[in-house]
Amino acid sequence: MFPQSRMRRLRMHPQLREMVRETSLSPKDFILPLFVRHGVNQQIPISSMPGQFQWTVDRLPEILADITATEIPAVILFGIPEQKDALGSDAYCSHGIVQQAVRAIREHAPDLMVITDVCLCEFTDHGHCGVVNESTGRVDVDNDATLELLVKEAVSHAQAGADMIAPSGMMDGMIAALRGGLDANSFSHIPIMSYAAKYASAFYGPFRDAAESAPQFGDRRTYQMDPANGNEALREVQLDVEEGADLLMVKPALSYLDIIRRVKDAHPNIPLAAYNVSGEYAMVKSAAAAGWIDEQRITLEILTSMKRAGADIILTYHALDAAKWLG
Ligand code: PBG
Repeated sequence: MFPQSRMRRLRMHPQLREMVRETSLSPKDFILPLFVRHGVNQQIPISSMPGQFQWTVDRLPEILADITATEIPAVILFGIPEQKDALGSDAYCSHGIVQQAVRAIREHAPDLMVITDVCLCEFTDHGHCGVVNESTGRVDVDNDATLELLVKEAVSHAQAGADMIAPSGMMDGMIAALRGGLDANSFSHIPIMSYAAKYASAFYGPFRDAAESAPQFGDRRTYQMDPANGNEALREVQLDVEEGADLLMVKPALSYLDIIRRVKDAHPNIPLAAYNVSGEYAMVKSAAAAGWIDEQRITLEILTSMKRAGADIILTYHALDAAKWLG
């Protein structure tokens, strides 16, 4: 009770403030998303994501040098192929854009961990995350037909040299199918980071510009989760754990800190990632550019809040800036 108890005593000395700090943030926590596109000698700015670019494979060494100068341990790749088709065939082609990028990173930054996003939406001409069944009148992605393609994609990424795969399509049975497919192809050592609770979110808007993957009709609400649901996220996560996910992910992060906390409490022993998505990044960048907020302080506060909520790992477009600020 006051006056015996004075909370401010712990806040007076800067060294003591640091000693009692409960949450730490380090560049080692970050995974940087990278967009790789077909073509030659291009670094195309993504207008809705200032500071982020689509890179052609030959230009990747520039950004790789920036990354390896920090302690950021990993990147996650998204590909923009030259040709899209109904079945997203570039996604599982041995010389597809992601496969080329994986090989280039292996060569130019051998110590950097390469994670690949396993999904079809960047590769399909309709922009949905799987095989679309035209007959029903609603956006009906054929779950089981999609699983077969996702297995081909994951195996193809592993063959190119990916260190970990991260399936983001929100198909049922996806983790079991991918685990089985990887194991059957001598990739039992390749871990799976599951986008276990992924919401149908407006926060992905800028990403869809960046990856040129906006759905051409309808939306993703028949496979991604309803933002109103929390209990359902725990069921999704539970299934992925049972199917063999090695790491879990909640996405988006900032409006879903409660979900991050609940998943961590339910599965304290499984590493948890949070995806600080494109719309979250764009909001910070635009307000900072207008001079309305302090970009550095806001960014570090946001990233710290994700760790405090329970994330062990953060996928973030702020990774290079935050690594610089964290010194
Ligand atoms: C692919 C995928 C998306 C994101 C990551 N993987 C887009 C989507 O589901 O529409 C979004 C990432 C971001 O917004 O930063 N399915």
